[in-house]
Amino acid sequence: MLELQTVDTDLSWPLKKMLKAKIISALILMPFALFSQRLLTNTGSRNITSLDGKWNYIVDPYENGYYNFHSEIFDQKNPTSTSAYYNNYHAKNKLELVEYDFDKSPTIAVPGDWNTQKENLFYYEGTVWYKKSFDYNLTQNKRLFVYFGAVNYKADVYLNGTKLGTHEGGFTPFNFEITSIVKPQGNYLVVKVDNKRRIEGVPTVNTDWWNYGGITRDVTLIEEPDLFIRDYSIQLKKGNNTSITGFISLSNPVQNEKITISIPELKIEKEVQSSADGNAQFEFEIASNIQSNIRFWSPESPKLYDIFIKTSRQTLKDNIGFRTIETKGPDILLNGKPVYLRGISIHEEYKGHRATNEADALALLTWAKELGCNYVRLAHYPHSEYMLRLADKMGIMVWEEIPVYWTIDFKNEATYNNAKKQLTEVITRDKNRACVIIWSMANETPLSEARNIFLINLIDYTRKLDGSRLISAAQLTHIENGIGIIDDKIGEYVDIIAFNEYMGWYGGDLATTPGTKWTTPYTKPVVVSEFGGSAKQGLHGTKDERWTEEYQEYLYQQNLLMIQKIPNIRGLSPWILTDFRSPRRVLPGIQDGFNRKGLISDKGKKKKAFFVLQDFYKTMKIQFD
Ligand code: GCU
Repeated sequence: MLELQTVDTDLSWPLKKMLKAKIISALILMPFALFSQRLLTNTGSRNITSLDGKWNYIVDPYENGYYNFHSEIFDQKNPTSTSAYYNNYHAKNKLELVEYDFDKSPTIAVPGDWNTQKENLFYYEGTVWYKKSFDYNLTQNKRLFVYFGAVNYKADVYLNGTKLGTHEGGFTPFNFEITSIVKPQGNYLVVKVDNKRRIEGVPTVNTDWWNYGGITRDVTLIEEPDLFIRDYSIQLKKGNNTSITGFISLSNPVQNEKITISIPELKIEKEVQSSADGNAQFEFEIASNIQSNIRFWSPESPKLYDIFIKTSRQTLKDNIGFRTIETKGPDILLNGKPVYLRGISIHEEYKGHRATNEADALALLTWAKELGCNYVRLAHYPHSEYMLRLADKMGIMVWEEIPVYWTIDFKNEATYNNAKKQLTEVITRDKNRACVIIWSMANETPLSEARNIFLINLIDYTRKLDGSRLISAAQLTHIENGIGIIDDKIGEYVDIIAFNEYMGWYGGDLATTPGTKWTTPYTKPVVVSEFGGSAKQGLHGTKDERWTEEYQEYLYQQNLLMIQKIPNIRGLSPWILTDFRSPRRVLPGIQDGFNRKGLISDKGKKKKAFFVLQDFYKTMKIQFD
């Protein structure tokens, strides 16, 4: 059952060091704690005003707006000052020296990455200041929040010259309350966006994707009554498809607030009361005469129910699917029946830019459906909520992951806390999406004791936060005497054994690939989370010529023959749906800054291997051993 989002008391790190760090950081950040807020969920159903559109921006490679010439941070130079320099500061008189002006600066689209919007920012990694002016008439007894879908990588947010707070992590949402600061006219929202890569970051400095900087998802104002429904979970009780369980979390610690949960189509209406902390947990049995009417969510029948949550001040509506997901030996059971994950991996990129809206998400998932997928691996970071809401509607199961990718700084406590926070944010946002069946902790992280401790802690934390879904990670394997060994230590702690293999691309002979043997000591479901090879769309030749569509086609044929014989194989998500930008891929005339392992080019053109996988998914005969 989902736990209320609690302040994590996990002291698995060296106790002394951490406690000291927590006390110090609490003192420093105290002024901003007033504004940093627990995440608002289901924002689409709330009273929202979009701030999307043209924002002014100032490129600031020396962070001149954040540090003075002694490198002191403007907004922390002394505890009371909460403003940065670049705060739409207008000269008060002719004598004053002001060397910038937002209103005369150029504009850029939000949401969107700056790299593909501005040619001179294509490779830029650093700070860009954004500014949006708006008016807002906030009526009595209402509260106002500003909500960001995602900002890559670090955001410092200010309203009318007051710092609201900071968020780190390029792919998860965050919000701040602005009730006490917003004015009827002339508000100016300023965001310092810094996409510099950093050793201690999540991800760290080396990735195989483009470091798109910017406010890359929607920005909205959310108006709420003084007492509102902040968060909730409603789902089938784990392992029991006749009980519904969950919690409601109100904005204020108000006791005995009457809360009604109704699912009209199932003739369910339940009333609960909030406890002193403003939360209410519930569990109720579905009436026996209704149980037979429930349509469980599945790819074949992605049924979503209208759910209403009502208090004295507000009614929120959501669309939620009910299903069970579990493993039994080597099987993955969806609603109690074995399922095979016919998948594809997807980066959040569409036709060479960061996917930012519902249309981009729909295009990507429509291609996945056309492939015959019932499942997608959203790599290597949380994608937009559009992807999850569409996957819910389209009947596509989802593997979601946080960017604990390759050589993360596993010994660094701040890195661990960052990863945990990003995991908390994506689970908080998506816990009511039936399509999400797997939370993934990591991708291809080098073996070490520190890495194992880091991941085992994350796994333990995830099970506490959401024990209703399966846990995995793209684990490491090795070849011994020509045999593939799937025995990563993390396999003991996850529900699904997943690994990436690149037979025929990063080694191995395609002619003998189908005969490759694999073994594993685990009796758990196995998923190949990546395999693939590159092809330049439109380049043709023989199946032995690397980079041709024919080579990629043959690679798929040979790998699919091998994969079917892997013990406990229950799914795959080949790498990858579409070509995507990467600074690592610079072969002129072939890659030109793109990773070409897509089954579809960055121009939306299908390659021959697309049809190999499509045919495999159409005709596959999976005998469950
Ligand atoms: C790795 C990695 C991907 C990368 C791919 C490749 O397995 O997980 O992020 O893009 O291989 O080399 O193309």
